[in-house]
Amino acid sequence: MAWAVVTGGSRGLGAAAALALAADGFDVVVTYRENREAALGVTEKLTAMGRESLAVHLALDDLAAVEAFAREVSAARRPLALVNNAGEPFPEGLGDVDLAAAERLVRVNTLAPLALVKGLADALGSHERPGAVVNVSSVVARGGSNGSSVYAASKAALHGLTRTLAVELAPRVRVNAVLPGVLATDMNAGALADERRARAARELIPLGRIGEPSECGAVVAFLASERASYVTGALIPIDGGVLARLALPGRRGRDREANESA
Ligand SMILES: NC(=O)c1ccc[n+]([C@@H]2O[C@H](COP(=O)([O-])OP(=O)(O)OC[C@H]3O[C@@H](n4cnc5c(N)ncnc54)[C@H](OP(=O)(O)O)[C@@H]3O)[C@@H](O)[C@H]2O)c1
Repeated sequence: MAWAVVTGGSRGLGAAAALALAADGFDVVVTYRENREAALGVTEKLTAMGRESLAVHLALDDLAAVEAFAREVSAARRPLALVNNAGEPFPEGLGDVDLAAAERLVRVNTLAPLALVKGLADALGSHERPGAVVNVSSVVARGGSNGSSVYAASKAALHGLTRTLAVELAPRVRVNAVLPGVLATDMNAGALADERRARAARELIPLGRIGEPSECGAVVAFLASERASYVTGALIPIDGGVLARLALPGRRGRDREANESA
């Protein structure tokens, strides 16, 4: 079977994507930034599923290291799928935005994914069937939210890359993106531990609950598979309906109550 590369595969959505890809038969390279033990925990699970796997250290703010990783993994594994999952939040209001930190964030969330697609494009497109790239963006790139300007911009840039690279790399490689809403990972564990904030989040979500990482992994694996053979350039929300809702003042939460009592 072919190899997939998942950045930030040590935890959260990346670990869930790695497990879902392995369930579909992929051997998986997972990268991590500092949590080697967690990454090895994921590769142990992949091995137990009968897959080959590898945990590799990769700091996405070091673009020279990202390019070197792409060269090595391209030659050694010739991957069929790339999941640009790793990313960092940047929860600063405009007045607190530090431009050097913002520049680093764009390197991690936008330029490193670009460098990986660039470095792996030939390998991804060298198989009998088209290769696949799945970029992990965020619903925040589609709608404003306080203190998210830099993060939203870094993710919205991934939408431009997804669409243009889908055209540029066709027909050898399909390129899609997923837009998670609020899923239970370490990234928002602090906010979700505050019951008031967790309730406020649930009220904005038509499905009425926080998502599970496996619910993102399933869509990522679908996009990487032959089942999505005619899907490219798509931006797919995994958000329990957040982007579908028009939240007019005074109506929040009421439509779900109305549905439940209907
Ligand atoms: N969870 C959500 O609700 C949600 C919503 C919208 C979008 N997203 C996006 O989904 C992706 C995954 O999020 P998550 O919630 O799973 O996050 P997470 O639980 O914080 O995990 C982040 C993963 O990325 C790695 N990573 C972080 N910064 C890195 C860097 N500078 N260089 C290399 N690796 C780095 C981490 O490695 P270590 O373990 O070694 O630190 C870890 O594997 C991110 O792009 C995030 O923006 C998540």
